[in-house]
This record gives sequence, structure tokens and C-alpha cells, in this order.
Amino acid sequence: MFGKISCWRNCRLVNLLILSVLATRCLSAPVAIRERIFQNQSISDGQTLVSTSKKFVLGFFTPGASRHRYVGVWHKDDPERTVVWVANRSNPLQDNLGILKFDNSSNLIVSDGKGNSFAVAYGVGVQDLEAAILDNGNFVLRSIANQTNIIWKSFDSPTDTWLPGMNITLGSKLLTPWKSSDDPAGGDYSFGLGVTNNASQLIIWWNGISFWTSERWNGDVNSLIPELKSIDTIPLYFDCDNLTCTYSPNPATRLTKIVLDPNGSLNITQFDPDTQLWTLLWRQPASCEVSNLCGVFGICNNNMLPSYQYQKNLLPSYCRCPKGFAPQDTRYTRKGCTRQTPLQCYGDRFIDMPGMRLPDNREKLSVMGDNECQSACMIDCNCTAYSVLDGCSLWHGDLTNLQEGYNGSGVGTLYLRVAASELESIRSSGHKILWIAGVLPSVAFLIFCIILFIWIRRSKNKGKGKQDGHHSLMTTDTIKLWESEETGSQFMIFSFSKITDATDNFSTESKLGEGGFGPVYKGNLPDGQEIAVKRLAANSGQGLLEFKNEILLIAKLQHSNLVGLLGCCIEGEEMLLVYEYMPNKSLDFFLFEKSRRALLDWEMRVNIIEGVAQGLIYLHKHSRLRVIHRDLKASNILLDTDMNPKISDFGMAKIFDPKGTQANTKRVVGTYGYMAPEYAMAGIFSVKSDVFSYGVLLLEIISGMKNAGSQGRGNSLSLLGYAWELWKEGRCHELIDKSLHGRCPENVALRCIHVSLLCVQEQAADRPSMTEVLSMITNENATLPDPKQPGFLSLLVSSQTEITEETWSLNGLSITKLEGR
Ligand SMILES: *[C@@H]1O[C@H](CO)[C@@H](O)[C@H](O)[C@H]1NC(C)=O
Ligand SMILES: *[C@@H]1O[C@H](CO)[C@@H](O)[C@H](O)[C@H]1NC(C)=O
Ligand SMILES: *[C@@H]1O[C@H](CO)[C@@H](O)[C@H](O)[C@H]1NC(C)=O
Ligand SMILES: *[C@@H]1O[C@H](CO)[C@@H](O)[C@H](O)[C@H]1NC(C)=O
Ligand SMILES: *[C@@H]1O[C@H](CO)[C@@H](O)[C@H](O)[C@H]1NC(C)=O
Ligand SMILES: *[C@@H]1O[C@H](CO)[C@@H](O)[C@H](O)[C@H]1NC(C)=O
Ligand SMILES: *[C@@H]1O[C@H](CO)[C@@H](O)[C@H](O)[C@H]1NC(C)=O
Ligand SMILES: *[C@@H]1O[C@H](CO)[C@@H](O)[C@H](O)[C@H]1NC(C)=O
Ligand SMILES: *[C@@H]1O[C@H](CO)[C@@H](O)[C@H](O)[C@H]1NC(C)=O
Ligand SMILES: *[C@@H]1O[C@H](CO)[C@@H](O)[C@H](O)[C@H]1NC(C)=O
Ligand SMILES: *[C@@H]1O[C@H](CO)[C@@H](O)[C@H](O)[C@H]1NC(C)=O
Repeated sequence: MFGKISCWRNCRLVNLLILSVLATRCLSAPVAIRERIFQNQSISDGQTLVSTSKKFVLGFFTPGASRHRYVGVWHKDDPERTVVWVANRSNPLQDNLGILKFDNSSNLIVSDGKGNSFAVAYGVGVQDLEAAILDNGNFVLRSIANQTNIIWKSFDSPTDTWLPGMNITLGSKLLTPWKSSDDPAGGDYSFGLGVTNNASQLIIWWNGISFWTSERWNGDVNSLIPELKSIDTIPLYFDCDNLTCTYSPNPATRLTKIVLDPNGSLNITQFDPDTQLWTLLWRQPASCEVSNLCGVFGICNNNMLPSYQYQKNLLPSYCRCPKGFAPQDTRYTRKGCTRQTPLQCYGDRFIDMPGMRLPDNREKLSVMGDNECQSACMIDCNCTAYSVLDGCSLWHGDLTNLQEGYNGSGVGTLYLRVAASELESIRSSGHKILWIAGVLPSVAFLIFCIILFIWIRRSKNKGKGKQDGHHSLMTTDTIKLWESEETGSQFMIFSFSKITDATDNFSTESKLGEGGFGPVYKGNLPDGQEIAVKRLAANSGQGLLEFKNEILLIAKLQHSNLVGLLGCCIEGEEMLLVYEYMPNKSLDFFLFEKSRRALLDWEMRVNIIEGVAQGLIYLHKHSRLRVIHRDLKASNILLDTDMNPKISDFGMAKIFDPKGTQANTKRVVGTYGYMAPEYAMAGIFSVKSDVFSYGVLLLEIISGMKNAGSQGRGNSLSLLGYAWELWKEGRCHELIDKSLHGRCPENVALRCIHVSLLCVQEQAADRPSMTEVLSMITNENATLPDPKQPGFLSLLVSSQTEITEETWSLNGLSITKLEGR
């Protein structure tokens, strides 16, 4: 087994994995990531505890510019690693040799290298204790034998953060802010619950004097902070009785926190998985920093804010609408403004809005004068505003976060597009342009600029050989993509020389594999980062169309279960995609080989099952683009160092209309064995065709068998047929991978098989959505409908030989070419 594996390149990590699996087996302790410690164990600075579903981490940290170390808890997915709880916040560690452990009297203590130690939690002499970080962020001391017997919990001594599920109780458990961002010790403010007229309310105190109170609890989920109700979807639900309050985010999986900051302002923030940033939902005192506080086209003005209260159910004076717009709902502040006259496109005018803080999400155009900028906006019917501050910027669609009276950078005149008739009624504030006289010369100038730009690029590249017109256009497109702020800062344009350096001039040693569209190389950037480079030959099967598709798609998709595209390089004939490097190859590498399959224990498989589902839900529902993958399969699931799944290869994914549920395609791409019947036969694809592929994958993960090409089990030709046969006879447990036996909860495995059969039903409409799939898998109490016959039986016999499939499974990337008929 070892000999075979070590033939593979870059198998250091695989070997490590084998060793650690062997090691953990010998010690019969849980896998590498720990969520708890026993009394005979400890964690030292640099090590962490991670909750079961990997939501929260407990570890050592240094706040801000401080030189001290503390023990704290943070969200695992938070790129800023903002600490939500600090152990014994006024007692810092003086060095980075800290250890968190139990003392002889079962108290949990932290000590540093100098022998100083302080208590984190008192175990009151109980002898069978463990300390564990739970999935809601609660750090607990509990009995090993009886885990409901919790001796101590961090939720009872919060610091500055109120997490979902944590109770804020009358007369105790106050939040106290950090002294400053460098010092977690408690400050002068506090936050907690008060009761007036038998009703709970939230209160902020300064040295014991109350200076802000919320509305009173009346049983309605947002009666405490009515402003939260006027956003399109209510972001969180409060729940109180007359002694305690708690809250839960909506949707329930969205990371949410309520923080009292050092200046006594209360921030409610939610993590946006699309942008990977925390979004401010509400702030006390209210402030224009709150995202979308005044809704679309609403103009916010901090100087008009009522100091420490807001006027209930009235459009506050700090939000106003621009000329030509009216409030959508005068009772709620956050619904925004609507146009009084719809735009006509050609013939529209612009009104000047001086002194505006320019909103984000702009498109920046280079080489543009003021008039050209205006024309560029005018000829694009979706352009709603432009500005010429720091070059030409255009905005498309509804504008949010308009702000006036702001004293800082980024303030200028915004020119807002309105229907011409509005301008006539406003007249004096109009931006006087003559359509023919103003625009036509500008269009000519625009064309001139483009030609000049292309010409300059061409002459720059002259030394590098023949140029292709398409490539030049691609280059300008990509530069535009790069410059528009939407793509985020992670996406990079690499120079060709940087790639040749990184891959040692595409040496055979660095080659990971050969795919249908070109070879894949491993590279090392000067900063030590490892990358996988997909080099597309100019005459490869992957044309410019697919390349552009892939680049535009992946650059915008960011999720922990999708493989990240770091950047691209287009120079002359060369087109390259640069991905993050995945050391543990792909799922099929482990799943379909007997000895390696045994390394995939139950926890890893569950992690993969859930991770892939999360990735697909993101693609189907939450990402800004809404994408159908169309080629989901084991070889497209890559595995990172921690064996977390990452869905790869979006080259064939296609943007689909969020309103339509299915679409038709002439070009069927995909892999036999994973393709839904309606897609393979009629080219009709929808999110439900991905659900089908997911069902097949799920069955493969539980059974360890391959669907396609697996013959002669029972009376069936495929795994699906076999599963269906066993299901009808009530013998599904026979399907569970033998190498898991005894080491997996059978009821959960059986439920997974049940869910996978629901996913592969013949009629797309019968199949559940990915969100439903995930909740069926994770919710033990869900009642599942009986599956109908899988949609493979008729297809199987007729087309097995007609579809030829070639699969290259590369380290990092896999490409499937399907010859349709
Ligand atoms: C540590 O404590 C746990 C729980 O009390 C026990 O199961 C385990 O055997 C102990 N390990 C060692 C090495 O003593
Ligand atoms: C804790 O127990 C160890 C071994 O039983 C002993 O050597 C040590 O003195 C004890 N420490 C305290 C503070 O009681
Ligand atoms: C913090 O540590 C000190 C010193 O050990 C201890 O007296 C105090 O009770 C601890 N505080 C908490 C909240 O555990
Ligand atoms: C476990 O602990 C809880 C809380 O202390 C207690 O109510 C329950 O009876 C205990 N269960 C067992 C089996 O000891
Ligand atoms: C919060 O309080 C409720 C009852 O008011 C209780 O059932 C729940 O266990 C408490 N949660 C925590 C984390 O203490
Ligand atoms: C508050 O509760 C007390 C006792 O239940 C009751 O006597 C009193 O009338 C209540 N006050 C209000 C304003 O509801
Ligand atoms: C507070 O709630 C408890 C139980 O939920 C109830 O018994 C009590 O009467 C309430 N008190 C008031 C003043 O409403
Ligand atoms: C609260 O929000 C304000 C305004 O966005 C921000 O400056 C401050 O840092 C936030 N505080 C915390 C603790 O997030
Ligand atoms: C708190 O207020 C001070 C002074 O107004 C300011 O410098 C600081 O940035 C504020 N801190 C936060 C976290 O808002
Ligand atoms: C303008 O917006 C509509 C709807 O959002 C979209 O269908 C259309 O493609 C856009 N046109 C341009 C030129 O971007
Ligand atoms: C704006 O900021 C400048 C310096 O940054 C200051 O001189 C000026 O007084 C400020 N204006 C207002 C209205 O706060």
C-alpha cells in the first residue's frame, strides 16, 4: 500500500495523513482536529480547539497592537478573526509559551512560561471533566459521562459579544466592551436586560447610568429594534420572556453577532458569505455606516441624526430622497425611494448632486474626460449615475448607501440619471446637455480612444509574435474585469514571466498532469505560495468562449467549498488559469481505491458530503451569479490539507436566469454515470440535474463503489440499480462501505442512502432542492418521502456504449471530454 502511493508525486501530505490515521488508531483518540480536552490533556499556544461543525475556534491570540497573549474564541470562517470571547480578560499572558490545562482541583487554568497562572473556569472538584468548544461558540466544562451536566459555560460570563443562542438575563450576564482594541479588559459601558412595566428591554449603561434603552418587548420578533423589520428579509429574531432575551439569525446558518464596542455603541453585524465581510445591520447610535440604512436611492445624513434615539415608525429626518424620487413607505426608514417617472433611456438627463459620498460598486473607466464619461453613462441604458471624481466612474441599477454631509475622502458630485420630464419640472438644478450636440462627438471620441488603446497594446506586444484580434479584446475585457471593484482584491493578473518563473519554465518536473485542454503545472510563487496552473494551448478544445466563461465565473465565486481561482494570465497566445493548489488530490483518488478508501473515515465522509452540499447551495442559491455546475463527480471534488472538499472545474458551468428553472443546451457536457436522464438525452439542464449528480456522488461516498462502470452486482448493471434493488427489499445496510462497518452510525448512513435515492428520481420535479437535501441529511428528525424509481434504468442499456468518456484526473484539476453524437 505504501509503495503504491509513494509513486505519486507530492504525496508527502498523503503519507502524513496515513501516519496520522494510523497513529490515531493506535491511541484510539479522535482525529487530528480536537474539539475538547480531558483533564489529563492541555493545549499550548499555537494549538486550537475547533467545534464539531468547524464553526468556532478556541485558541491563543494577540489583540491589536498589544504584546500580550490571551485565550479566546472566534468564528472559524471570519477572515478578520475577530474575537468573540476572552478568557479571564483582565489577566494577560506575558509570553507565547501559554498552556491551557486543568489543575489538581479540576479548575481550568492558563499559565505562561514564567509560571504565572490564572483561572479560566472553576470545576468545583468534579472529577470526570472535559473542556469543549461547542458549535454555538459556547466554551463549556462538562462531565464526560453525562454531557448535559454542564459545570461552567462561557455564555454565563460573556465579554463584549452576544452570540445567537446566548441568554442575556435580568440582573446578571452583562456585556462589557473592551477597554480599547488593544486591551480586552472591561471598559466603562455595559449592556444588558432591564424590565419596565413587566416588559423586557435592552439597555446600555455608562458607569451605571442608563443612556439608551430599546423599545419594550411585546412578543413580536423585532419589537425591541423595529428598524430591523423594515429590511427586505428580517435578519434576526429576538425572543424574550420577562427575565431573559436571546436571538437567532435568519437564515439560521448566517454568522451573526451583537457587539458593544469600546465607545459604547452597539453593533449588529452579519457575515456575508459572498463578500466574506461583516455587514453592519444596525448600530446604536444609528449611523450612515449601517449598510443600506436609508434603502435604495435614499440619502443618509449623519448630521441630522437624532442623538440617542430614533423616532419609531417615522421616516427619520436623516434619510431623504433625491429630486424626482419619493419615499416608498413613509412609515419605515429602510425601504428607500422610488422614481416618480420611469427612465426612457435615450433622452434621459442627469441631475447634479454635489457633496455626495460616492457609493461603492462602481465601474471605473480609464482614459475618459468629463464629457466622455457622461456619454458612456448615457449610451448604457442600465447606467444610473456617474461621477468624474478621480476619473470616470459609472453606477448601474439601484444605488444604495448614498450619503451627504460626510466629512472625509470620496466626496464629490454625483450625476444621477432621471427621466427628462423630471428635469423639466426641476429645471434649475438640471445638467444642461444637448443630446445630439453632446453625445455624438463624444461617441466618436470614445471609439477613437478604444482604437488608440488597442493600437498601443499591440505595439507593446509586438516582440511576442503574431497577435490575434480576439486576444486583444480579451485582454481589454480582462483589464476591465480587473479594474471593476466587484471582483474583489484577491483576483490577480499574473505576468507570463512570473508564471514561467513559478513553474520553472513549465518543466516536466512541475507538471501535474495532462488534460484535454492542456497541461497542468504546479508552481511556487516567490512568497512561497503553491499554485496550480492550467495552461491552455491557443488551439486547445477550450475556446475563447469557454475560457472567458470560466474566468468570469470563478473569479466571482468565493466559498470555502469551491476551489479558488487566484488569477489568470493572458499574453499573446498564452492563456493560463491560476488556482489554489490542493495537496490531497481529488475524492476519486481516495474513494475508488481499496486501501486509500479505508483512510476516509466516517467524519471525513460526512464533512465531504456536507461541504459539497454547501458548495452547491452556494452555486444554486446564494452566489450572485447562480450557477449550475453540470459536471459534478468524484474527480471534480478536490481535497485540501484538512481533507475539506472543494468543488472544482466550473468551465462548463453556465449562468442561468434566476427566474427560469431550466434551460436547453445543444452542447451536452458532463460525465456518464452522473448525468441526469433529461440532461443526457434531451440536453435539458436545471439545478435538479446537479441534484441528480449529487445523489450519485452521495451514494458513492457511502458505498465506496463507483456508479459508472461497476457491473454485476445483484441483478443490476449499475450502483443506482443495485441500490434501488436493495431499497425495495429493505436491505440497504448491505450498501454501506465495508471499511466503515462498526465505525459509523448506521441510521445516518441509511438516511444518506435514502436521500441519495430521492436525488436520483427520474422526474426532475420529484427531486429535492440542495437546501432540502442538506436539511434532510443533517436533521435526524426529518421525515423523508419514499423515493420513486431512479432515472437511469431506461437510459442505461441504450446509451452505455454510445457515449465515450475520457477522464483525466490531475492533481488539482480534472477535465472530462464527452463526445456527443
Ligand atoms: C485521559 O483521560 C481520559 C478521560 O478521563 C481517559 O479516557 C484517557 O485514557 C486518559 N489518557 C491517558 C493517556 O491517561
Ligand atoms: C498536583 O499533583 C501532583 C502529582 O499528583 C503533585 O506533584 C503536585 O504537587 C500537585 N499540585 C498541587 C498544587 O497540589
Ligand atoms: C481570573 O483569574 C484570577 C486569578 O487566578 C481569579 O482570581 C479570577 O477568579 C479569574 N476570573 C475568572 C472570571 O475566572
Ligand atoms: C445528567 O446531568 C443532568 C444535569 O445535571 C441531570 O439532570 C441528568 O439527570 C443527568 N443524567 C444522568 C444519566 O445522570
Ligand atoms: C437560555 O434560557 C432558556 C430558558 O429561558 C434555556 O432553556 C436555555 O438552555 C438557555 N440557554 C443557554 C445557552 O443557557
Ligand atoms: C406587572 O405584573 C404585576 C404582577 O404580575 C402586576 O400586578 C402588574 O399589574 C403588572 N403591570 C403591568 C403594567 O402590566
Ligand atoms: C414572568 O414570567 C414568569 C414565567 O415566565 C411568570 O410566572 C411571571 O408571572 C412573569 N412576571 C410578570 C411580572 O409578568
Ligand atoms: C461598530 O460600527 C462602527 C461603524 O461602522 C465601526 O466603526 C466600529 O468599529 C464597529 N465596532 C465593532 C466592535 O465592530
Ligand atoms: C471611539 O472614539 C474615539 C474618539 O472619538 C475614536 O478615536 C475611536 O476611533 C472610537 N473607537 C471606535 C471603536 O469606534
Ligand atoms: C441591463 O439590465 C438588464 C436587466 O437587469 C439586463 O437584462 C441587460 O442585459 C442589461 N444590459 C446591459 C447592456 O448591461
Ligand atoms: C471637516 O474636516 C476638516 C479637517 O479634516 C475640518 O477642518 C472641518 O472643520 C470639518 N468640517 C466639519 C463640518 O466637520
